[in-house]
Amino acid sequence: MINIIAGNSSEELARKVSKKIKANLIKSEVKVFPDGESKITLKGKFLKNKTIVIQSVYPPVDSNLIQLLSMISKAKENSNEVIAVIPYLGYARQDREFLPGEIVTMKVLGSLFKGVGLSKIIVIDIHSKIGLKQFKIKSENLTAVPDLVKYFKKMKMKDPLIVSPDQGGKERAEKFAKESNLNYIALQKSRDRKTGKVKIKNENLDGVKGRDLILVDDMISTGGSIVKATEFLKKQKCKRVFVACTHALLINNAEKKIKNAGVTKIISTNSIPGKTSVVDIADTIVKAIK
Ligand code: R5P
Repeated sequence: MINIIAGNSSEELARKVSKKIKANLIKSEVKVFPDGESKITLKGKFLKNKTIVIQSVYPPVDSNLIQLLSMISKAKENSNEVIAVIPYLGYARQDREFLPGEIVTMKVLGSLFKGVGLSKIIVIDIHSKIGLKQFKIKSENLTAVPDLVKYFKKMKMKDPLIVSPDQGGKERAEKFAKESNLNYIALQKSRDRKTGKVKIKNENLDGVKGRDLILVDDMISTGGSIVKATEFLKKQKCKRVFVACTHALLINNAEKKIKNAGVTKIISTNSIPGKTSVVDIADTIVKAIK
């Protein structure tokens, strides 16, 4: 038996995982003071020598991150081995120096995780594996693609095709396509590194006319990438556009923007709880920690 600490941002998911493996569940109670400081109280006893902390780092990113670090630190005081399951890891896109002078925050996170005594970090569909290379502790990147595929297999679609909105997501789209026995294509997207604006560089596209499309991405933040891809695909006269993504942050009115662009449905996982998070990743986590 192991201890599982249910972080505030992933409480329900941690409870599900804990139930499946009959772990010793330690709950966390968080109070955020008016100045923004978090005070965390763990509710439960450390009964075993191995502890798993489950906490996603979505907005408020820095608060959820400091809470995660604090829980790891406390777990290390009370057990030998501490593993963090971070279904969505904010800062994962800051994995290299795109423009001169930019700080690679993933490297900073690596030092912090090591500093608080973490033995291993488990993430799900991380933006790019380069980020994990910045860590000096063991790491594992799980994928929720099979869970998402299972969901989509139950849906009725017309001659579906898998589409990655950019070349960076090609591997993910290929996996999705393989698991679902379909074909895939990857669009050419570019992002202005200063303004963050995205553009689809393709001109015309053969083979999407009249077909249902599943846009596969690791995450949706502002929705900009999905909106641009959908607008482009609609111009190519595709039928319906569905979105399958692991992490749906849906910042501000991203969901509305995506729907207005013509997306029929957004499907995401419970790595981040929300309206679109209908795919459960508890079993995928269980397989990795058992
Ligand atoms: C970028 O390469 C990622 O895979 C996502 O497509 C992107 O980060 C999503 O961000 P947004 O929704 O703001 O376009």
